[in-house]
Amino acid sequence: MAVERTLSIIKPDATRRNLTGKIIAKFEDAGLRVIASRRMRLSQADAEAFYGVHRERPFFADLVKFMISGPVVVQVLEGEGAIAKNREVMGATNPANAAPGTIRKEFAESIEANSVHGSDAPETAANEIKFFFRDLDIVS
Ligand code: CMP
Repeated sequence: MAVERTLSIIKPDATRRNLTGKIIAKFEDAGLRVIASRRMRLSQADAEAFYGVHRERPFFADLVKFMISGPVVVQVLEGEGAIAKNREVMGATNPANAAPGTIRKEFAESIEANSVHGSDAPETAANEIKFFFRDLDIVS
């Protein structure tokens, strides 16, 4: 399987509960490597642009409000089949449907406050990584 890169965000519900380390351990245990990382606060414009694809969805305004409600940790993860592997480790978007042992099953509070975001496809991953990181910031 090819080595890929994917964008991960540890969301405000998780940083608020000091779960950053526990979440990163799940990625590392699955064979994913953190090759870039930044703790930051998203502005309203950042969050609206990042989630632009969801602009017409009924949950968009609340999602943006939630994503700017506290710090996030944005990261690039690298590994074999990293995009699918990260999604497997995260679990289903709605924690009620997430498999045992996944991040969302163990930590998510709701479908909105679901602790982590991960890119869903190669093109999205490339665009989302570029949204947050310069090539110089990524060290594998
Ligand atoms: P994420 O993987 O970051 O992508 C979009 C986010 O929208 C999703 O995780 C959830 O946090 C949030 N969201 C809120 N409500 C819904 C919903 N009904 N369906 C899908 N995503 C939702």
